[in-house]
Formats: sequence, structure tokens, C-alpha cells
Amino acid sequence: MRERMERILFAEETIQRRVKDIGKAISADYQTAGAAKDIEHRPLIAVCILQGAVMFMADLMRTIEIPVEYDFMSISSYGSSTSPGAVRLLQDLSHSITGRDVLIVEDIVDTGFTANYIKRGLLARNPASFRICTLLDKPFRREETIEMDYVGFFLEEDLFVVGYGMDYAGVYRNLPYIALLKPEYRRH
Ligand code: PRP
Repeated sequence: MRERMERILFAEETIQRRVKDIGKAISADYQTAGAAKDIEHRPLIAVCILQGAVMFMADLMRTIEIPVEYDFMSISSYGSSTSPGAVRLLQDLSHSITGRDVLIVEDIVDTGFTANYIKRGLLARNPASFRICTLLDKPFRREETIEMDYVGFFLEEDLFVVGYGMDYAGVYRNLPYIALLKPEYRRH
């Protein structure tokens, strides 16, 4: 698939190095820096937002050095010009998060609609703490304000990226790097 890519933005080694740094920061924050607020000291719950965050979640979890449980959530955006930012829950968590420390793992935050929908919905369940980690952040695309706690890389240009979880029409998620797809492959 490499020949279909115009340019590689983040190489595999670059991503892996950054993921390790984030994993270290998360481990330190929840172990010693007071991010953990669950008074019963139960493990952190890491929530992978399907499908894009699967690869990031799998790599990130291997770099985390504190006890952690997984959960998964699937969200669909069906925003249109008449209802921009409309978001719908496809698959809910399997754990109760009340009183628990929750860390959302996303691949990319763009307008912020999805992350805000998740945040509103999960805060209503009264977790002990709530943080969001995203591999990519496009802050200039934000339509709703939302703070990220951990960001892998900022994208300052409006580039359509694929790989490392991100797709075009459902494919290219399995690339180990993040790249720009050539225009001739963006039509179908
Ligand atoms: C992507 C990404 C985020 C969302 C961010 O998901 O994984 O969940 O878009 O966009 P926003 O900030 O504008 O809401 P997508 O709908 O592409 O689904 P996928 O993860 O299954 O590819």
C-alpha cells in the first residue's frame, strides 16, 4: 500500500517513541501525580473508542505500567449541514464507571463533537476522574471546546490522514505509519 501514499507524516518509529512517552506520562500521573481519584484504588479503566483507536490502544496499553482494565465504546457521527455534530452511541461500555478513574483513548480529535458527546455521557455516570488521550489533535478544526489531557501529535494543516487506525472508506487502518493518501485513491 506504500505506493498509494503521497507522503508519510509520522513514521512507525516516531509513533512508537511518542506512544511510549505518553504511556510513561500516564503511568506517572496515575501512580504518583494524583490523577487517580478512585478512593477504593481500583484499576484505571482505559476506554478505546472504536474503531480508529484500536491500534493506538493496543500499543499504548503495552507501555502503561500501572494496573488497567479495558473497555470499548463505539460512536457514529451522522452530522449533516442541518444537524452538524450529531453523534450517536452504537455500542456502550460493558463496565460501570461510577466512582472509577476513566481514560478515553481516541485516535483523532477534529471538531470535538465526538469527544464532547463521550465526555457529557460519561460524566453523567459520575466517574471518580475523567481524562482524554488522543494520538492526533487538529485544534484549528475545533467547533466545540474540549481539553485534551494527553496528545501524541498536533496536526496544524488540514490534511486527510490514514494509517495507524485511521481509514479512508474503511481501509488503510492497518498501516503502521500515518500518511497522506494520493488523491487518485480518494475517490472510492
Ligand atoms: C473519528 C475519530 C473520532 C472522531 C473525531 O471517528 O476516531 O472518534 O472521528 O471527529 P470529531 O472530533 O470531528 O467528532 P470516525 O467517525 O471516523 O470513526 P472510526 O473511529 O470508526 O474511524
